Parts: sequence; structure tokens; C-alpha cells
Amino acid sequence: MKGQNSSQTQIARRGDGLSPTDLSLLATPLDFLCADHLRERQVCSVIDWLALSASFDPSAARTVLRFVNEELNIHMRDEAEDLFPLLARRCPAEDGIARAISRIRTDLDEATGLLPGLRSALARCLDTGSGLTPEDRQLLTRFAGHVRRHLAAENAILLPIARARLTRRDLQKLSRQMRARRGLSPYAETPDAE
Ligand SMILES: [Fe+2]
Repeated sequence: MKGQNSSQTQIARRGDGLSPTDLSLLATPLDFLCADHLRERQVCSVIDWLALSASFDPSAARTVLRFVNEELNIHMRDEAEDLFPLLARRCPAEDGIARAISRIRTDLDEATGLLPGLRSALARCLDTGSGLTPEDRQLLTRFAGHVRRHLAAENAILLPIARARLTRRDLQKLSRQMRARRGLSPYAETPDAE
């Protein structure tokens, strides 16, 4: 797992964010979350494109709808239900993790609150061939802003702390829970000291 070829393969699997994150990265769940953030950043660029373009781009809208319907919700559950509780339990108070998680949850909640409006705006344009209204464009921009803030804070604060604090057993548990969420069987694991 630690060999050079393996490292190169892992980097290659992280991809360019233009397609859903490679499920084989679930073996190293923090790498998977990091790759998900790259994916989110790419989709935010697509959302910006939709918000700023003079004419509506149906292909871009379908990309965004697929992402929010099939990937984003699962990513948010990976973090809210699995990563955050693990960090809260494992990190000492001086890490300031509770406040960081609280700020990140606020952005996730804001993004979640905007999701119905984003879905309906894009679906309406796809169905009717009409363009986005100024309010739709503003909503898309706000949504992308919250998603970007969440991933930037997690990349800068949470994931480095997770890499430092979570034990091998924690990471195995995280991997198992994230695989289960996707209907995948757990990896065979060897008992391991923390
Ligand atoms: Fe995230």
C-alpha cells in the first residue's frame, strides 16, 4: 500500500474532479473525502458558469443536478454522521475542533437549504427551455459559495487534524461506514492496535 507504484496509482485515482470520485479510494477514506472536495470545486465552477452565462447550458445543468442528487448528499452524510463524530471524540480541546465543525455545519446547512431552489430552477429551465432568472443566478452563486467555504475549511483544518489524530482503527471504521452507505461490503480487516 505504501510502495511507489501504489502511491502513483492513488494519485491517478484522485482524478481531475470531472467525474464521481473513484470508489477504490474508500480504502483510504480521508483521501476519498479530499478527492470529493476536488470534485465539488469542479462542480462549483460549472455552477458559476451557469450563473454567469448569457444563455442557459442544458448539459451543465444536468451535470449539476446529477452531482447534487447522487453525490453531494452522500458526501455531507459521510462527514456529518461519520467524520465529525470521530473527530469530536478523538481530538483534544486545544484543537478547537468543535468550533471548526460548527462553522462548517453552518455552511453545509446553508447549502442544503438552497438545494430545493437550485434543483427547481435548473429543472424548470431544462423542462421549458427558458433561461435562469436573476434570482436563480443569485441562488446558484450563493450555493457555490457555501459549498466552496465548506470544502476550503475542511481541507485547511479538518482533514489535516484528522490525518494527525485518527487512529488506524478509526480510519477502518470510517472506511467501513462510508462503504456501507454506498451499499458496498466492508474490506477484510486485520485486528490492529490503535
Ligand atoms: Fe466536505
